Amino acid sequence: MGKQTFTMIKPDAFAKGYTGAILAKIQEAGFRIVALKLTRLTAEKAAAFYAVHRERPFYQSLVEFMSSGPVVAAILEKDNAVEDFRKLIGATDPAKAEEGTIRKLYAESVERNAIHGSDSDENARIESDFFFSALERV
Ligand code: CMP
Repeated sequence: MGKQTFTMIKPDAFAKGYTGAILAKIQEAGFRIVALKLTRLTAEKAAAFYAVHRERPFYQSLVEFMSSGPVVAAILEKDNAVEDFRKLIGATDPAKAEEGTIRKLYAESVERNAIHGSDSDENARIESDFFFSALERV
């Protein structure tokens, strides 16, 4: 089980001013922030980040949404990081997310679902490297 995961606060949650509350909840759950960045994805970057979903019907809309405004990217450290973080954020569809999860509290819809969390240790590494150079990590 890996010690790191990658997360991104999506444009919906950033625009509504939830960044501080979400980062507080992440830290209260025992995750240490080892990299943090406020940035924007171009449509090209969003398309590359979500390339695994390119055959899905929601892909084009997802790329437009993810490039529509700033995002906050972070690398988080904790034992069993990937699995524990996915529990903290809750189900992809906020209507199905458990009480107290970040998506239950802050997400709008299955697409505008407030936050991303890596689904495997390998993807955590790939996604972290997509956003952060070695010097940007503590
Ligand atoms: P995430 O799991 O972080 O990465 C893939 C994203 O695609 C997902 O969050 C949602 O933002 C989006 N997504 C997944 N399923 C759907 C769907 N059925 N309709 C629209 N968007 C979706």
